[in-house]
Amino acid sequence: MSTATSLPPPELLDWSEIAADLDADGVALTRPLLTPAQCAEVISWFDRDELYRSTIVMARHSFGEGSYRYFADPLPPLVQALRTRLYPPLAQIANRWAAQLGEDGYPTDLAELHERCAALDQHRPTPLVLRYGPGGYNCLHQDLYGELAFPLQFLIMLNTPDEDFTGGESVFVEQRPRQQSRPMVLRPGLGQAVIFPVNHRPVRGARGYRRVALRHGVSAVHTGNRHVLGIIFHNAR
Ligand SMILES: [Fe+2]
Repeated sequence: MSTATSLPPPELLDWSEIAADLDADGVALTRPLLTPAQCAEVISWFDRDELYRSTIVMARHSFGEGSYRYFADPLPPLVQALRTRLYPPLAQIANRWAAQLGEDGYPTDLAELHERCAALDQHRPTPLVLRYGPGGYNCLHQDLYGELAFPLQFLIMLNTPDEDFTGGESVFVEQRPRQQSRPMVLRPGLGQAVIFPVNHRPVRGARGYRRVALRHGVSAVHTGNRHVLGIIFHNAR
């Protein structure tokens, strides 16, 4: 497995730009966080049963078509490093949002978030890897997993769009109160991450900030295979 030290440090990301994109659109695309070799390595883990605590075949639950696997503890070092390193800058954004919405804030440290999760019986790790083949898709959903949900999550594209697969767009739908829903489509390239809200985000209205809910999914893959690494920060019940 890759060593965590081969990851770019999070301070190399432009967090003011990411925060501005999240505030404006609810979604932010980063520069590549993983190298092509690291992406290929994560894909190669997909069939290693010993790495996972649970596997979901989406058609069995009417979630879509495709499958995803939740990593078991201890997480692979690369996954653990991504989760640990991106947490603090995202917690800053989450805490600003929480203040705008009059909600409780979040710890500045991931281990402390997990202590809070454990107190609510949320012990199981939530990072996962997803595989969609031709015809694969994912219905619009949210990844809540329990009472405590850290408000931001991200995915990393592990394949090259239009080379490894066609179709399979990352779809986001924002539901503003008393307005029609707004669809957004993102096309992360190999190794790029998309950061987005788990549940809702603040949007300034005439009378202060309001909660705007977001759901995410994947449109149908036409050809090839599409793999994604998903990092959710709260643990699952
Ligand atoms: Fe999801």
